[in-house]
Amino acid sequence: MTIALGPVMVASGCGGTGRELAPFLDLDGVAFVTRSVTLDARQGASGPRVVEVSGGLVNAVGLPNPGLEHFLATELPWLVRAGARVFVSVAGSTLGEYADLARRLSRAPGVAGLEVNVGAPDETGLDLFEVREPYHAASVVAAVRREFPADRPVLAKLRPDVSRVVEGARACHEAGATAVVLGNTVPAAFPDGRPGGLSGPAVAPVVLRCLTETARSLPGVPLVACGGVHDAASARLFLGAGAVAVQIGTALLHDPTTVARVAAELGDDA
Ligand SMILES: Cc1cc2nc3c(=O)[nH]c(=O)nc-3n(C[C@H](O)[C@H](O)[C@H](O)COP(=O)(O)O)c2cc1C
Repeated sequence: MTIALGPVMVASGCGGTGRELAPFLDLDGVAFVTRSVTLDARQGASGPRVVEVSGGLVNAVGLPNPGLEHFLATELPWLVRAGARVFVSVAGSTLGEYADLARRLSRAPGVAGLEVNVGAPDETGLDLFEVREPYHAASVVAAVRREFPADRPVLAKLRPDVSRVVEGARACHEAGATAVVLGNTVPAAFPDGRPGGLSGPAVAPVVLRCLTETARSLPGVPLVACGGVHDAASARLFLGAGAVAVQIGTALLHDPTTVARVAAELGDDA
């Protein structure tokens, strides 16, 4: 399957519901990955959820979302009306939950594709299906792929775990992922020691290492880089290292127009 992702995408959880970006950014045609949606609503973490550190942010947001039913009734139709190409990020506690999410989203109008949040970073208390080994990641992707139309993309988003990333990407690809997203936040801590995930420019070299090793080992697998992209130069670094697209997260919290600005500058290269 050829995948029309567009070179620049909004990363999961960083574009809110889309409404928060809309005053600053025309979403028409923008590849927008939603925050991770679970079957049931989640309140998310209590206490401070995000802190700025040098080079980025540490967050422990805890995947707050209104649950699938509410998402289908409100957030999805709004994004579709705004013209976004909607990739719904899904997260579950069991393989059955992942399958259920994929089945119901396959019938929802306007879903361009899915992104499977495979093994979110190790914030405590997330209660997601535990991914310790590549075959766990593959089982999640297979459960989703079976339930989602073969002509629409399923992206597998992997933790930027440098020691296992090639095996993880291979397992996800063999299980039917159309592309593999490298990576997510990097395990870190808040200044008070609570666990969280680091994002922003500080993580870009980690993602670049994951990307170069995976691109070299698995030349046929489409790879999407996610971590620290904030301008055209940082996007070009990943695209030059073999990514077919980049996702932008943390930079949107500083400047919601980053996606449009980077896409326009890359377009000038063409
Ligand atoms: C506030 C915040 C919320 C996030 N929520 C999600 C989420 O719901 N699902 C997910 O897969 N990733 C989530 N992420 C991770 C981002 O999508 C992205 O993978 C990570 O931040 C690295 O990219 P960046 O450096 O461009 O932010 C979140 C990140 C932040 C900072």
